[in-house]
Amino acid sequence: MNKTLAAKILDAHLVSGRLVAGEEIGIRIDQTLTQDSTGTMAYLQLEAMEIPRVKTKLSVAFVDHNTLQSGFENADDHLYIQTVAAKHGIVFSKPGNGICHQVQLERFSHPGWTLLGSDSHTPTGGGIGMLAIGAGGLDVAVAMAGGAYYLTMPKICQVELTGKLPAWAAAKDIILEVLRRLTVKGGVGRIFEYTGDGLAGLTVPERATITNMGAELGATTSLFPSDATTQAFLSALGRGADWLPLTADADAVYDETVTIRLDELEPLVALPHSPDNVVPVASVAGSKVDQVAIGSCTNSSYLDLSKVAKILAGKRVHPEVSLVIAPGSRQVLGMLADSGALSSLLRSGARILECACGPCIGMGQAPKSGGVSLRTFNRNFAGRSGTPDAKVYLCSPEVAAVSALTGKLSDPRDYGHPPVIDLNTPFVGDDNLLVFPPEQGQTVEVVRGPNIKPFPVAKQPPVTLTGAVLLKVGDNITTDHIMPSHAHLLPYRSNIPHLAKYCFSGVDADFPARALAQGGGLIVAGANYGQGSSREHAALAPLYLGVKGVIAQSFARIHRANLINFGILPLIFANPGDYDKLAQSDVLTIDALHTQVQKGELITAANTASGQEIPLRLVATSREKEIILAGGLLNFTRQTGGF
Ligand code: F3S
Repeated sequence: MNKTLAAKILDAHLVSGRLVAGEEIGIRIDQTLTQDSTGTMAYLQLEAMEIPRVKTKLSVAFVDHNTLQSGFENADDHLYIQTVAAKHGIVFSKPGNGICHQVQLERFSHPGWTLLGSDSHTPTGGGIGMLAIGAGGLDVAVAMAGGAYYLTMPKICQVELTGKLPAWAAAKDIILEVLRRLTVKGGVGRIFEYTGDGLAGLTVPERATITNMGAELGATTSLFPSDATTQAFLSALGRGADWLPLTADADAVYDETVTIRLDELEPLVALPHSPDNVVPVASVAGSKVDQVAIGSCTNSSYLDLSKVAKILAGKRVHPEVSLVIAPGSRQVLGMLADSGALSSLLRSGARILECACGPCIGMGQAPKSGGVSLRTFNRNFAGRSGTPDAKVYLCSPEVAAVSALTGKLSDPRDYGHPPVIDLNTPFVGDDNLLVFPPEQGQTVEVVRGPNIKPFPVAKQPPVTLTGAVLLKVGDNITTDHIMPSHAHLLPYRSNIPHLAKYCFSGVDADFPARALAQGGGLIVAGANYGQGSSREHAALAPLYLGVKGVIAQSFARIHRANLINFGILPLIFANPGDYDKLAQSDVLTIDALHTQVQKGELITAANTASGQEIPLRLVATSREKEIILAGGLLNFTRQTGGF
């Protein structure tokens, strides 16, 4: 009784700990997913664990980020992933099959199960009632090997949706409203559980849009109940047998509640350069738009693109706008073709891209210098589009489609009635680009081309840690800042020595050379360090450059875990104002590091430049402390004998 849905699923998967907010818990993982930009590293780590076959119910390896194969590097990575997947019993989703979260939702999602993915938008699966969490590749590799996933028990926050969305307001506007209210830091240490009578009007793809972008809140995950809508979705996919009803108890007790009256929502837009910089579209309507991009794991469902097709049907994209559309999966693209919607898109002047992440990860379609790009995506960090001074706005597919026609940011309420979509269209499956593993994979040869390089392995920390402040940065540093994901770098995700040359390149291009010349050191940062993607390259590249610790006012969840996994100390200022006492090139010394880590939270660092002592906190569970002292999760796992 009194149980939230999240607590029910966690309870059913609990292997250690208690469901008390702030305590460490370990949970069993049913499914894993990886994508290519994090997957190569995850599979190199899985191989290092010497497990012949994955122990999850299902693991899937997607190739969706870098599908261009503009050089041998991508092709090497893809073949490595395909062969390592076959050897270890993992389903392989070929390039072009679609974006991992869209395909996972359509093809493999399962209410009530746990999913761990090496991509921060893994919570997309929460739209169907999964407990789906994004994590670093090493955590996912451990889960594939049968190990538990450990996390700090989050608070469970209820988001109560009441009423019905008015015309032209969309699911995207619900999550933009949550972001407007709570900001990109507002979800840290929380699971968002959606309830209320407003759920009845939201389809599973719409729910998935909301849980997908819950990642931008910094949340552990977000989820919806599994109800009649979920059943209808699974039945339409021919997977009705996977459905089971799941909901919170009527008297469930939540740690916090946010109420959103859907009737009061209007079309919203996130202004550059943060997803929480949200205002009504009406307040900025009329600004010129150069590019409109529709797709990404947030808004690329059949429902989304059918609406776009209806809006564009019989009309022409504005001559000064480039409209690009990336369907979320081959299944979506096939259904658009079957229904005739694809013709409407093509005849309007839209450009159809491959079913992949594409422009969302900077793979093509970089806007012009200083250009305005209106996107249905989830992130608009500066530079992520591939154009440093581009201005990226985030909105619903409806706002994007209408604006593509007018050539300016447009409030769709000024342009007639919203499209009506038949929600009973049966889904037509397409497994042609899925490769299922053989029953016995021992004889499969794993192919390693020259782009597959060994990953740096962390070492045990020294007894006395002395290091210079190699770089001092401000608040909200993203993993894109730390390890950019530009098109020219994506092919090197399995080549850390090459990638590391570009670590912090948009912040301070001299950082890698300085770090190597000084034999490593420390990074000092403001609040919410490491927000954004799950990419562990944002820990691996600094590790390769000798970074031993990051001292910040606070950390984003996945990045903090990645730092620990690779033996880098994530330290927090005990007094946030001490951030101002440290300057780049100050030298810090932490004496008796092992004893200080073991004995408690407070760790003292001496600033040899000023003579001041800076009290720092290592907010870590006893298990995490052991991982740090072992020199990272891989060493810890080897020392403790596995899983
Ligand atoms: Fe891909 Fe962008 Fe989603 S990179 S997984 S579409 S956030």
